[in-house]
Amino acid sequence: MSRKLFTVGPVNVEPEVLQAMTRPMITHRSKEYKKLHGDIMEKIRKALDTDMEILLVGGSASIFLEGAVRNGVKERSLGLTNGSFGDRFIEIAKLNGKTVDEVRVPWGKAVRPGDIEGKVSEGTEAVHWVSNESSTGVFGDSTALAEEVRRQNPDSLVFVDAVTSAFAMDLEMKRLCPDALVFGTQKALALPPGLAFMAVSDRLFERSASVRNRGFYTDLAKLRKNSAENYALTTPPVSLMYALDFQMDRILSEGMAARYRRHREMGDAVRSWAAKHCGIFPEEGYRSNTIGVINRGDMDFDRFHSALKAKGYEISNGYGDVKQTTFRIGHMGDITLARLKELLSVMDETLEEIQ
Ligand SMILES: Cc1ncc(COP(=O)(O)O)c(C=O)c1O
Repeated sequence: MSRKLFTVGPVNVEPEVLQAMTRPMITHRSKEYKKLHGDIMEKIRKALDTDMEILLVGGSASIFLEGAVRNGVKERSLGLTNGSFGDRFIEIAKLNGKTVDEVRVPWGKAVRPGDIEGKVSEGTEAVHWVSNESSTGVFGDSTALAEEVRRQNPDSLVFVDAVTSAFAMDLEMKRLCPDALVFGTQKALALPPGLAFMAVSDRLFERSASVRNRGFYTDLAKLRKNSAENYALTTPPVSLMYALDFQMDRILSEGMAARYRRHREMGDAVRSWAAKHCGIFPEEGYRSNTIGVINRGDMDFDRFHSALKAKGYEISNGYGDVKQTTFRIGHMGDITLARLKELLSVMDETLEEIQ
């Protein structure tokens, strides 16, 4: 039986998108590659409404979370966290030898500008956080946070993990003005995993020139030199880039406003389903339109999920500290409201059957 994925990632990939990967191979130093690379970057910039330079490497998004701190921080950063992936960003900075000050807010809550008041000091070289916390389903106001960071220290860089928000929820790039914005292919781009991206500001490029130990794979100077010619530094997954180019055309023809609206409608549908059961975990006003984190109550989730899987539907377990008390529905990428409603009604039917 074919699986219908409503997971948090990798997510469902449409057959025609997978098919686009089967074009004949080209080398990554050819003219054809150069055109492919350039076309993709132009389309991504258009979709995200930004003029920023965008870099890609073969790997998962975490490689560029690491790249951001390795290039932008000599000694000290501030990490904001309200869940597992905020913690992960902090861990990545620490493992790269940086000293990280932390602002922690309870899981399920958004980090607000007031939470960081007085925390961005002169020595804070960068502040990093997650735009859409995948463990809790909280979509924070990154623009307001970035403005507060810059108000306290205009030299402090802003690094945003947009892994589960980019291309599904409007990041207002021109107001957010991130110095690094990181995402990958396997979430709202609805492609197989394998490519990581970082939108990079001129400020971060400048900062990196004076930072030591930037490594090789994530060295912004090397990456930029190649990217200026529409090439990658190391061998990229070319087949995946064929699919990405094809997918970007689909995304742009849907239109970003329509895409954001579709995700909002799906978020609303999941929230009303949750309201009829044990409720949604994240606080009101900051609920994600890509991931619904739903309270389990006294539901036997393993039994429920096995029954759903037997019918061909797969959702996601809870994550981190709320692993045992929540479960998650991923509704990003190419999922439609109609398909999501089908899942929700199968979930209702399945809950009745197992009671
Ligand atoms: C918010 C967030 N950040 C980072 C990651 C890590 O991404 P990757 O596995 O592509 O490195 C994930 C993965 O689920 C995520 O949801």
